[in-house]
Amino acid sequence: MDDITLARGLHILGVVVWIGGVSMVTTVILPAVRRFKNPEERVAFFEAVENRFAWQARFTTLLTGLSGFYMMYTLDLWERYTSSSYFWIHMMTAVWVIFTLVLFVLEPLFLHKWFHRRATTNPEGTFRIVQTLHWVLLTVSLVTVFVSLLGAHGTQF
Ligand code: HEM
Repeated sequence: MDDITLARGLHILGVVVWIGGVSMVTTVILPAVRRFKNPEERVAFFEAVENRFAWQARFTTLLTGLSGFYMMYTLDLWERYTSSSYFWIHMMTAVWVIFTLVLFVLEPLFLHKWFHRRATTNPEGTFRIVQTLHWVLLTVSLVTVFVSLLGAHGTQF
């Protein structure tokens, strides 16, 4: 097994755990939590789940980014950033940048406090916003997985 095959394997392992977790939170946990009768219990349970998942997401985002850039560097694929037919490379990078910003900068600095304050005063509205944002991120991520897989296996766009 060469280094590129290993990097590709780690890349996909990262994507599976990370985007799979986003899917679980979006399609199972958030809808279930929104049915909790007690608003305080709802906020406490969701924060406990998201806090645990955030650490997994941080680790897998790092793994995916490092392995992705390793492939870009070793295979010298940088000129793909200048071609629109490689839009899937732009999509992968954009998804990674968005999650990296949310997980490493916005969440610790601001999002966590914003959620706690707003969810305590307006749980319905806050959970609606959180669920919509999760659906947007999940949809973009799944489309990115699909087109990147096709692109990496020779589909010409
Ligand atoms: C810093 C961010 C990223 C970089 C630099 C990057 C780079 C790469 C590279 C160089 C490849 C191999 C392309 C080829 O063989 O022609 C690849 C494959 C792939 N990447 Fe990424 N990637 C990144 C993030 C992501 C993200 C966020 C996702 C999913 C949402 C993703 C999903 C995939 C998939 C599904 C493949 C195809 C693997 C295969 O079957 O060979 N990547 N990526």
